[in-house]
Amino acid sequence: MTSEVEVDAVVLVGGQGTRLRPLTLSAPKPMLPTAGTPYLSHLFSRIRAAGIRHVVLGTSYRAEVFEEYFGDGSAHGLEIEYVVEEEPLDTGGAIRNVYDRLRADHAIVFNGDILSGADLHAQLRTHLDSGADVTLHLQRVADPSRFGSVPTDENGRVTAFLEKTPNPPTDQINAGCYVFRRPVIETIPAGRRVSVERETFPGLLENGAHLQGFVDSSYWLDVGTPEAFVRGSADLVRGIAPTSALAGPTGDFLVLDAASVFTGAKLAGGTTIGARAVVREGATVSGSVVFDDAVIGPDAIVENSVLGRGAQVGEGAVLRGVVLGDGASVGARCELLDGVRIWPGVSVPDGGIRFSSDA
Ligand code: GTP
Repeated sequence: MTSEVEVDAVVLVGGQGTRLRPLTLSAPKPMLPTAGTPYLSHLFSRIRAAGIRHVVLGTSYRAEVFEEYFGDGSAHGLEIEYVVEEEPLDTGGAIRNVYDRLRADHAIVFNGDILSGADLHAQLRTHLDSGADVTLHLQRVADPSRFGSVPTDENGRVTAFLEKTPNPPTDQINAGCYVFRRPVIETIPAGRRVSVERETFPGLLENGAHLQGFVDSSYWLDVGTPEAFVRGSADLVRGIAPTSALAGPTGDFLVLDAASVFTGAKLAGGTTIGARAVVREGATVSGSVVFDDAVIGPDAIVENSVLGRGAQVGEGAVLRGVVLGDGASVGARCELLDGVRIWPGVSVPDGGIRFSSDA
């Protein structure tokens, strides 16, 4: 990419990640371990593979955590700069807020919580060939009614931004990755909250700007909910989602350093077992993300769940579609189902308690 044209990368990582609470109480969403490494490492590997080196992170919530981990980016072959918003400026405001750090004529902006296999070269090529002001990655999805949709004309030009509707006229949705001509970023109002999706793009369209669609149907997942987070991590482990930042070979599970998996325990479905975590005999862990130092007792069943750092699951307990915060514990023979979330440090006592968020 850089052999043809220089481009900066901007990654928006300032959101509070409310849908992923309580996991995001201790770590911002892009720093949650996904297949053994912060989610952001996977995006950085993709940016690096596209030949881009200069990355500006727009941070707000828990801003310091990013720089502590990634530093100047050299370990990832990148040059990373950090810009902190005192008050969160929302997506458009965050893009405007990094304007002074941009060096190239074009910037490619990523939402920091999307796993995607779309071809960045092809998106940039579309942008340059069409001479667009902004080129949006539009993802074709099976059920577009869950999203706002973005129709395009026969030349691929965006014609509208439509709200969610039961019968959208197109299966193309805004996939959260945009190439901007740099001067367009300067037109976003500075110093206040601006939503790029709800204010900037519709406003540009109304004023006659050229917004081009780059339509793609490769792997794409917004990892903003617990269900999507476990699926994204499992897809990375199994090699279904693209990355070159995996902490081990792809396969049915990933066990990190110094974890203990007892004989007779079963791991499946792209599960990750964190460093020093313990899975006792007879336990089954499937499609789940187990953070460092968590302990799963004998004969427990953990499916499609996230266990926070140091969380504990008692003997024979059953967890399906559950989030345990850091240090939370679930007693022996409890049954937790369907979206139950236990806050950090909270203990559910032993003894056959059954919780379901649907109940
Ligand atoms: P939820 O609270 O669960 O909706 O998550 P979120 O706060 O991350 O919001 P959302 O998923 O809509 O955000 C999309 C992307 O924009 C994410 O990568 C966020 O980190 C980022 N983002 C959202 N709001 C801001 C903001 O005010 N400033 C910055 N810098 N980034 C933001």
